[in-house]
Parts: sequence; structure tokens; C-alpha cells
Amino acid sequence: MTAKTRLVAGNWKMNGSKASLMEIEAVKTGLANPPGVEVAVCPPATLISRAHIVVGGSPILVGGQDCHAEVSGAHTGDLAAEMLADAGATYVIVGHSERRADHGETDAVVRAKAEAGWRAGLTVILCVGETRAQREAGEALAVVEGQLAGSVPDGARARNLVIAYEPVWAIGTGLTPTGADIAEMHAHIGARLAERFGEDGAGMRILYGGSVKPDNAAEIFAVAGVDGALVGGASLKAADFLAIINAARPAE
Ligand code: 13P
Repeated sequence: MTAKTRLVAGNWKMNGSKASLMEIEAVKTGLANPPGVEVAVCPPATLISRAHIVVGGSPILVGGQDCHAEVSGAHTGDLAAEMLADAGATYVIVGHSERRADHGETDAVVRAKAEAGWRAGLTVILCVGETRAQREAGEALAVVEGQLAGSVPDGARARNLVIAYEPVWAIGTGLTPTGADIAEMHAHIGARLAERFGEDGAGMRILYGGSVKPDNAAEIFAVAGVDGALVGGASLKAADFLAIINAARPAE
């Protein structure tokens, strides 16, 4: 049992139009009262302001999926963390493997984005995770340790940082690591954070992400050291997302 309040966050990625706000409305309606867990939805940036209005009066928080490191300037197409906050975001995801792969984001870039999120008052969800080749080569723990060392800034505290462990090979594939592999990685991440940040590090939440679905959520949340989930595909449908949120509720 963990004393940390779990976080279940939905990453819509490049999916959703204003019609999808109905799904957020349905999550709001379907949430248990109190929900027992923290809930966040990270829609595409075009929907953040509207999502912020839709979640009004509910415990659901809204987040962005990425931000630029700078406050403003000549960066066509980019969004500053301050803009996300202004639109109503509380969270921002940085370092997702799709950003690292599609946009060549290095650990240094991810670190600067995390600092930008804090500068804007956002809580940062920072993603790490190994590829299939790295796991097969027995390098998973070392790769994630390197990502943590390179992309988590010194200003990290339990209140401003959440780590999401997302094995690249488990994202969108229907594959998940074994419970033992998830437990091993979460323990490893927790130990590195505690080593570097002391009690604050030990208090940081570590989410699991990668093919979390209604039918495997309970099993994943039962794994030691799993403080919540970052959910992709299954967060797009209210019924699926609600089932995952309910699976994360602490047993009474
Ligand atoms: P899926 O849940 O679709 O595998 O995506 C996971 C993810 O990348 C969340 O950030």
C-alpha cells in the first residue's frame, strides 16, 4: 500500500475534436464522489481551454502534452508552458517517447521543458522508458536511470514532479511488461529519486504507462510502487477511462 494519492492521467495524443469534450463530460458525470484518486486529462492543445471549462466544478485537472522551454519568441507552432497555464492547464507532460523519437528531443531538451513547466506553475509529468532492443539487451534499468539523471532537473520536488515509466514497446501495442518487471523498474526509479532528492524524491509519484486498459488496470495497480497510470488509447473513451480510474481507487 502506498500513502501517495494515485494519479490517473489520460494522454489523448493527436486525437480529439470539440465533439470529444463529451467524453470528458461523461468522465465528470461518472466519477465516484470522492474519486479517491487524482484525475487529469491531457487533450490536444486546441482543446485545453474548452476542456478546462468542461471540467469546472469537478476534481478533473487538465494538462498539456508538451511545451517549449522558452516563455515566448520566434518559435512558430510551439507553445510556452505559460500559455498552457493560461488556457487552464495544471499539468504538462514532457519527454514522452513520441516527442523524443519524432522530434529528436534529448534529455537536455526535456530537462529545459520540465523547468519551463515549473516556471509556469505547472506540475510536470516526465516520461522515461526503454525500447524493446534495450530491454532485450538487458539495458532497461540503465537506460531509464540515464534518462532520469539527464532529464530530471535539480529543482524536482514531490509536489512538482511525477515520473511516468512508459516502456516504448508497450505503447499502443497491447503488450505490457510482467508485474515483476514493472515492480523492478518502479523500485529502481524510486531508489534513484530518493538517492538524489531524499524524502522529497521518495514522495514522488511514479506512474506506469503503456497499454493500460480496463482489463489489465487492476493487475497493474496491484504492482508494488505503481502510483497511477498514464493512459493513451483507453483514455479516449469515457467508459474505459472511468474503469481504469475506478481500478486505481484505494481498497477500503
Ligand atoms: P497507450 O495507452 O495507447 O499504450 O499509450 C500510452 C502512452 O503513451 C501514454 O502516454
